[in-house]
Amino acid sequence: MSEELRFDGRVAIVTGAGGGLGAEYAKILAARGASVVVNDLGGSVNGQGGDNSAADRVVNEIKAAGGEAVANYESVENGEKIVEQAMDTFGKIDILINNAGILRDKSFAKMSEEEWSSVYRVHLYGSFKTTSAAWPHMRAGGYGRMVMAASSSGAYGNFGQANYGAMKMGLIGLIRTLAIEGMKYDIKSNAILPYGGTRMTEGLVPENVYKATAPENAAPMVAYLCHESFNESGQAYEVGGGFMSKIRWQRSKGHLFPLDGGITIENIAANWDSVTDFSQPAYPTSAADAYQEIIKNAG
Ligand code: NAI
Repeated sequence: MSEELRFDGRVAIVTGAGGGLGAEYAKILAARGASVVVNDLGGSVNGQGGDNSAADRVVNEIKAAGGEAVANYESVENGEKIVEQAMDTFGKIDILINNAGILRDKSFAKMSEEEWSSVYRVHLYGSFKTTSAAWPHMRAGGYGRMVMAASSSGAYGNFGQANYGAMKMGLIGLIRTLAIEGMKYDIKSNAILPYGGTRMTEGLVPENVYKATAPENAAPMVAYLCHESFNESGQAYEVGGGFMSKIRWQRSKGHLFPLDGGITIENIAANWDSVTDFSQPAYPTSAADAYQEIIKNAG
């Protein structure tokens, strides 16, 4: 057996941890020694209402199992208050899992501005608020492990989820740059595209898939991403139902058009097969990497 991966002495915040996937993230970290702030405002899946009992229940479970946890009932839109509670209670912040989420599904033709902005405020703005409040503490401590809950709906698209998908992809953009800016402080920022049998997916996926994607099956990988031994940053992973993988950008080799008059609509149309030919793909891993072909063409 390999050595147990533990979180003794670490302080973690898990947002939206009063149920679903977040509750399992909080429980596994606490079971392995972390002190956990269990945040949840206890609203409906559409973001209505509030109920302290969601976070309380998870805190009680953690405590009954001998772990350390404290409940927090703020909306992630007030992320600074969640971080404040971690600092007041445990004195530091090592791990932040931005997991809180709501759905306001509607086909784009019918989507109101309110449906767009409420999803923005929880997923993207809420993650900004918690992260920006935690960031200075992580920098000062020279340590941080951050995980954002993205979604396959963002990466691949899903009918009725234009608002949700856009915010989820925003989080992947966010971690790409946080990885660069956090590098010298040992702050690792990654994203997951989870698959969870929760109230969000109940009735939408077949019963066997719902069971296979029980949140307990996703939590160990999310905990691994939060461990001090985890060395990757700025990456995105799919996890759920026993399936775990990493996703990345693939770029076609591309076509270089001569700069002296070669860039015409007709020339582009004539060379479109070459522009989009994936037989010799490239995998740029940085903006500088992505620029190389242009530099080559500039002469
Ligand atoms: P869930 O609805 O069971 O849990 C989300 C939790 O976030 C709830 O307990 C809710 O009260 C809380 N929450 C909502 N708004 C909040 C706010 N403003 N402040 C604090 N807490 C708030 O959903 P589930 O399935 O556990 O989802 C967790 C995360 O994973 C979400 O971000 C979701 O978008 C994402 N996700 C889930 C997938 C799935 O298959 N279940 C697929 C892809 C992404």
